[in-house]
Amino acid sequence: MSQDTLKLSAARAAIQYVPEGKVIGVGTGSTANFFIDELAKIKNRITGAIASSKATAERLASHGIRVFDLNEVDALLPVYIDGADEITHSGAMIKGGGGALTREKIIAAAAERFICIADASKLVTRLGSFPLPVEVIPMAWKPLSRKLAIMYGGTPAIRMRDGQPFLTDNGNYILDIAGLVIEDPRTMEAEINQLAGVVTVGLFARQGANICLLGTGQGVQTLRFPDQSVQLKQ
Ligand code: A5P
Repeated sequence: MSQDTLKLSAARAAIQYVPEGKVIGVGTGSTANFFIDELAKIKNRITGAIASSKATAERLASHGIRVFDLNEVDALLPVYIDGADEITHSGAMIKGGGGALTREKIIAAAAERFICIADASKLVTRLGSFPLPVEVIPMAWKPLSRKLAIMYGGTPAIRMRDGQPFLTDNGNYILDIAGLVIEDPRTMEAEINQLAGVVTVGLFARQGANICLLGTGQGVQTLRFPDQSVQLKQ
């Protein structure tokens, strides 16, 4: 079974978590795109969506799904649905392979539940095989690269596209740190987020996924992570 087939099966399974008549949060990436296409089939049952990137906003709008600004919504979103680059058996994730990590983390923090949709290759026992994305203010990328290498021993590299630094939707750069072995993602998330010039680290451990719908060759597995407390939500 292809990876895309597994992503699609996870995306389809997420539709059952979409409540009627509400605004939901929608992530970014190839699995999220499958979800948006499935959401379009039931678009009349929802009020609309908050998009975690310009690309997602465009795809939602192209299906006729109303896209809201997060500040137009007065309560927690019932659900945020997005993919991951890696997810552990306790719901901690690396995200940001698509560069949308900051908006993803903002919307996830404004939602009661994070439903992660992923193919089975994303489930890992320890985070770090996938290079860890860190969104940084452009003037800080070099000193931050040196500092991060000293702190964690990996190899940070500025993300490039077409010979230029990749720019996020927020106008910032991304450092991808390869070669990490992340034993304590919660501590690392807090430490990196405190460095001057860091906008967001792509570790989603302090507020990880509540549920992961994992597309496998034997069907969609539902992993539940009861530790993720709604009390932490803003
Ligand atoms: C986007 O910035 C990312 O966080 C994605 O959610 C993540 O990279 C998963 O993407 P795929 O679904 O394309 O694997």
